[in-house]
Amino acid sequence: MRTEVAIIGAGPAGLLLSHLLSLEGIDSVVLETRTREYVEARIRAGILESSTVELLDAVGLGDRLREEGDEHRGIYLRWPGERHHLDFVDLAGRSVWVYGQTEVTKDLGRAREEAGQEFYYGVSDTAVHDLTTDRPYVTFRSAEGEEVRLDADVIAGCDGSFGPSRGAVPDAVKRTWERTYPYSWLGILADVAPSTDELIYAWHPNGFALHSMRSETVSRLYLQVAPGEDIAEWPDDRIWDELAVRLGHGQDGWELTPGPITDKSVLPMRSYVMEPMRYGRLFLAGDAAHIVPPTGAKGLNLAVADVALLAPALTAMLRKNNTALADAYSDTALRRVWRCTHFSWWMTTMLHTSGDPFDARLQLSQLRWVAGSEAGATGLAENYAGLPIGM
Ligand code: FAD
Ligand code: DHB
Repeated sequence: MRTEVAIIGAGPAGLLLSHLLSLEGIDSVVLETRTREYVEARIRAGILESSTVELLDAVGLGDRLREEGDEHRGIYLRWPGERHHLDFVDLAGRSVWVYGQTEVTKDLGRAREEAGQEFYYGVSDTAVHDLTTDRPYVTFRSAEGEEVRLDADVIAGCDGSFGPSRGAVPDAVKRTWERTYPYSWLGILADVAPSTDELIYAWHPNGFALHSMRSETVSRLYLQVAPGEDIAEWPDDRIWDELAVRLGHGQDGWELTPGPITDKSVLPMRSYVMEPMRYGRLFLAGDAAHIVPPTGAKGLNLAVADVALLAPALTAMLRKNNTALADAYSDTALRRVWRCTHFSWWMTTMLHTSGDPFDARLQLSQLRWVAGSEAGATGLAENYAGLPIGM
């Protein structure tokens, strides 16, 4: 079998890349280990930067987002006794949208299906070959157990942090940076109306808490917990009690309304960057090349920003035999990757407690400056609401 671009991974990066390429008349085949149902139900990101929304609009994927998503002007920062609203529209001229990754993935899946995209879900043993030639190929076993060879001009590694693409770049070529944080997040989904109009990021001596949402009837909340925390130690009542303490239930008339929890999981927190994001004819995008801790809401947006650069680069390479953008892809993408890596690290270390009282004093001082100074607030707003794509 042959295609122009073999895309490994049907997460947001892989699906959006296939969509952007098809708008340029470029063929691709998408391979995915999981089932489509699994990928579309996987609960992950919830916040889209304005540049992500503009891109989805521009490529015909914005209708349901505009109808069912919720535009937010900013966020609340809170710590015991204080609550501040940061208005990103006033500060940086940009808003963010609440729209789940599940919904982005469904919209992309539907658009690809309507366009007749060729997919292989449920594949195994994916491997990449001959990456430094102009005839690279991928081998895999289909869901039906057939051994398949897929020849391509280019391979796009959009296979997240556990896929084979990252490992296919030889150690002698790549450099990696990694930081594992000494805490995890316990995340819940609950069938209850959000107790807030916009997200609340809360610092508390017991640890960080975040009140997010998915819709008018579904809330998404997170608690900082110890790494490897046993979820069995967290019955529903304990979760709601701890969220109430950390988010400031009862302070200045604000109340947290609990409800039935429908999903509960523990997520590790780490930063990871691999350079370069290209090896021969293999181009990496999204979590395959970099991971950020979720505090800055950047992972999905960064995956979108990568493929927004990669699609025109591959188009120029395959249609005009012009490799300038493809040759610049890794360096260009990494500028944004490192900006988001810094911002995500900064938000994480400002808001998560370490147990060290000196750290706590520094964090509260930093939070007071961010909330109280227009310069401080603008810095957070510009980074959170997102730089324009291509910057
Ligand atoms: P993925 O979504 O991981 O997709 C990669 C795909 O490749 C997967 O479907 C995988 O099954 C497939 N794959 C793996 N191995 C193979 C193989 N061998 N062969 C074929 N396919 C393979 N980001 C934000 O921007 N905002 C947020 O608010 C936010 N919140 C988050 C909250 C949580 C709880 C988590 C876990 C993440 C959050 N993120 C957030 C991060 C965001 O979800 C990821 O950065 C995003 O999914 C990256 O997309 P991707 O397409 O690069 O990778
Ligand atoms: C969500 C996740 C985040 O990591 C974040 O910073 C904001 C919102 C969410 O899942 O809604």
